[in-house]
Amino acid sequence: MNVYDSDRMQDLMENVGYETIDTPEGADMVIINTCHIREKASEKLFSDLGRIRPHKNKKEEDGSQMIVAVAGCVAQAEGEEIFKRSKVVDIIVGPESYQTLPDLVGKAIREKKKQINLDFVPDNKFDVFRELAANVGDAGSSYLGGSSRRVSATKGVQKSSDFVTVQEGCDKFCTFCVVPYTRGAEYSREVSKIVDDAKRLVDQGVSEIYFLGQNVNAYHGLDSTGAPSSLAKLIEEVAKIDAVKRIRYTTSHPRDMSDDLLAAHRDIEKLMPFLHLPIQSGSNSVLKGMNRKHTRQDYFKIIEKLRAARPDMGLSSDFIVGFPGETDKDFEDTMDLVRKIGFTQCYSFKYSPRPGTPAADAKIQVEESVKDARLAELQKLLTEQQIEFNKKAEGQVMPVLFEREAPKSKKRTTTQNGRFRQGGEDEVTTRSIQLWGKSPYLQSVIVDVESEEEAANYFGKIAEVKILKSRPSSLVGTIN
Ligand code: 5AD
Ligand code: SF4
Repeated sequence: MNVYDSDRMQDLMENVGYETIDTPEGADMVIINTCHIREKASEKLFSDLGRIRPHKNKKEEDGSQMIVAVAGCVAQAEGEEIFKRSKVVDIIVGPESYQTLPDLVGKAIREKKKQINLDFVPDNKFDVFRELAANVGDAGSSYLGGSSRRVSATKGVQKSSDFVTVQEGCDKFCTFCVVPYTRGAEYSREVSKIVDDAKRLVDQGVSEIYFLGQNVNAYHGLDSTGAPSSLAKLIEEVAKIDAVKRIRYTTSHPRDMSDDLLAAHRDIEKLMPFLHLPIQSGSNSVLKGMNRKHTRQDYFKIIEKLRAARPDMGLSSDFIVGFPGETDKDFEDTMDLVRKIGFTQCYSFKYSPRPGTPAADAKIQVEESVKDARLAELQKLLTEQQIEFNKKAEGQVMPVLFEREAPKSKKRTTTQNGRFRQGGEDEVTTRSIQLWGKSPYLQSVIVDVESEEEAANYFGKIAEVKILKSRPSSLVGTIN
C-alpha cells in the first residue's frame, strides 16, 4: 500500500511539473513516505532527515529552495511533533490527505510557512484522482481513481496488471498494529466508481485488476441501488468486463471470509486461485492477546471450505513470532498449523512494539534471542513449503500473464540461421530476452524469447507456458 501511495504522490507532483530523480542532491523537493508497520519507522525518518539536511543547506546557499515533505503513517501519528524535532521539514501530510500535496507545496513556497494536513477524507482523495484521470488523458502520467500507470514511449512498456483501491482503513484494532490509528476507520468506495476505474485501466491495456485495501474483504461499498455490496458482488461486477482477464484482492482478514466470497472462488473463473490470508499465529491464546477475533479452528474451517471451492488454491499468510507472552507451546502451535495447511509463500516477522499500541505496554515481552530462533525455524519451514509448491509446477502447462522484461536479460552468441557454430563467419551476438510474468498462483515465471518484437507481442497477454524448472522463488518455462 505504501509503495502504491508513493507512486500516487510522484504522479501528483509530476502533474504539476516536477520530475523524479534518484538522489536528494539538487532536488527542489524531497518526499519521505513513512510506514509505521515497519520497525523503528520514526527513528528511520529522523535519520533520513539528518541525511537530507546538508543537501537542503547547499540548495539554500545556492540561493534556491528545497521543500521537504513527510508523508505516510509516521506523519499521521506524530503530526506537529515532527516540526519540533526537525527544522528540515516543511510539510507534513497524512495517508488520507496526500492528494492536497501540490497545494501544500504551493503554499509552503509562496507563504514561506510550514504546512500540515492530517485530515481523513478518503472520498475526496479518490475524487481528485478521478478528475486528474479525466484531465490528463494519455499525456505522460494518467490518474485513475486511486490507480495510475506510466507509459514510457521510449521503452514501449505498459502495465498489464494494476491496483484499484476499493477500501481503506481498519476497525479491527489488533493489539500489535498501528493501522487503525494511522489509516483511520474502515471506508469502502462505491461499486460504480471502482467499475469505472477498472474499465479505464483495461482501455489502457491492463488485463489484471488487483483490488487493494487494508481489510479488503470487509468491503461494503454502495451499489447502484444504494445497498451495500460485498467484495464477492464487486468481483462479479468487474468480472463482467470482457477485457478484464484476471482479478485478485489483498489483504484479507479471516473474520470477513464470507461464504459468498468463498463461493466466488468456485464460480468466477477470472478470480485467481490464490489468497493472502494473514493468521499471525497458530495459538489461540496468542490470537486472543492479539485481539484477532478468530481462532485457529476458524482458520482451518475457512481453508477447508476454500479448498472445497477451489482445490488448487495457493495460500499465503503473515506470521508474527515472539508476541508478548508467546510460549514454546504457542510457537509450536504455529509450526503445527503451518505443517497442516501448507503455504505457497508467506511473510513472517519478529514482533516489535509499536508505540501507542496496547501490546507495546505488555510486561511479558519475549527475549530477542528467542524471537530470532523462532523466526529462523518458521522461515525454514515456510521456505521448504514454497520450494515444494514450486517443484510441483515442473512439467505443468499453465497460463502466464506477461508483465515485463525480466531484469536479467542477457547476451548470447548465435548464428544468423539460429544454429550455433562458434567462430563461424555468420556468428552474431544477439540479446536473449527474458520475459517475466505471473502464474495463477502468483509465482514469478520467466521465459526466453528470441527478439524484442517477440517480447512486445507477449506484454500484457496471457500465454500457455510449459514449466521446465523450478527455483525457490520463481519458475522457468517455455511458451507452449
Ligand atoms: N510487529 C511485527 N509485525 C507486525 N505487523 C504489523 N504490526 C507488527 C508488529 N508490531 C505485520 C503483520 C501484518 C503485516 C503487514 O505486518 O503480520 O499482517
Ligand atoms: Fe492491522 Fe489487524 Fe487491521 Fe490488519 S486487521 S490492518 S493487522 S489492525
